[in-house]
Amino acid sequence: MRKSIIKGMGFYVPERVVTNADLEKIMDTSDAWIQERTGIRERRWVEPGKDTTSGMGVKAARMAIEQAGLSPSDIDFIVFATLSPDYYFPGPGVQVQEALEIDTIGALDVRNQCSGFVYGLSVADQYIRTGMYDNILVIGSELHSGGLDKTTRGRNVSVIFGDGAGAAVLSASPSDERGILSTHLHSEGKHARELALIGPSTQKWVDEILTQNDPDYTDYYPYMNGNFVFKHAVTRFPEVIREALDQNGLNASDIKLLVPHQANLRISQFVQRSMGLSDDQVYSNIMRYGNTTAASIPIALCEAIMEGKVKEGDLVCLAAFGSGFTWASALMNW
Ligand code: UT7
Repeated sequence: MRKSIIKGMGFYVPERVVTNADLEKIMDTSDAWIQERTGIRERRWVEPGKDTTSGMGVKAARMAIEQAGLSPSDIDFIVFATLSPDYYFPGPGVQVQEALEIDTIGALDVRNQCSGFVYGLSVADQYIRTGMYDNILVIGSELHSGGLDKTTRGRNVSVIFGDGAGAAVLSASPSDERGILSTHLHSEGKHARELALIGPSTQKWVDEILTQNDPDYTDYYPYMNGNFVFKHAVTRFPEVIREALDQNGLNASDIKLLVPHQANLRISQFVQRSMGLSDDQVYSNIMRYGNTTAASIPIALCEAIMEGKVKEGDLVCLAAFGSGFTWASALMNW
């Protein structure tokens, strides 16, 4: 069976830089707290009305397609991962099809939050392996800033998240030596409410939200039980990375570059230590972009490639953990 490779990558982040000092002006927080607990120095937030989740995804996708040496008409299928779509429905995959003026190909929307890109990559990998499609666009894009509680009440969530998009073109590998070795997907729905945005939804009707007179009503903002999520993340990340290595008879020392979902620098450092990896083996850019959920892995991988950190044949591992809970990994020979 043929393998799939990432043939091209692209990313886009909004121009507007929001530093920790900027946040100090709108809520009770400090640069010291944010850096110490998360490693984040700044993030990008869209200029309201300027960027959209689908639009950022399209920009990242154009770069990925160009880098792959293809044109939009070569794309057979679109997978779009996001928790912050432009509309409640339809999902943004179809908006990419329209913007890139691609024929009426299929467009699938993935709802797996921080693990969304790896889930999307796994789906695309199966289609390439079976020969159903040759070139698949996998996009992760998030516009968090419009939906955050930017007051002191929401500070444990709002200081972390940033906006941006990343994209990859997955194609049939020219050789058996290169390509995705395996992907590993997991979920544990009993923790769904520990990191969630509950309404508006079929469980929280718009009328119910609009008629709330309680100033403490916050169901329309993301909720995160930070400590609880942290503890699960530092267990699940190493577990799912080891699962991928074991399946392929490889060791942590074989990894050239681990690109973890950029959730929190402390989580990545914890994972690095518990896996016995060196600083060179783990890529981090959360300092500059914050946590961009489904976009964080493709943005980070794209930057790592642009910085020359990955060469042909290198063993690359992607790993993610987040809301659901869902977690996932992908191992590939670049
Ligand atoms: O990407 C999806 C998955 N998400 C994650 O993996 C995130 C996992 N969780 C985390 O990264 C961390 O739990 C946080 C960074 C969210 C929070 O760090 P923490 O060390 O767990 O802090 P905490 O929630 O235990 O809060 C400690 C203190 C509290 O004050 P008191 O009760 O000790 O007086 C908070 O009110 O820090 C306070 N606090 C803040 N202070 C300044 C919470 N947020 C802030 C803030 N600025 N932004």
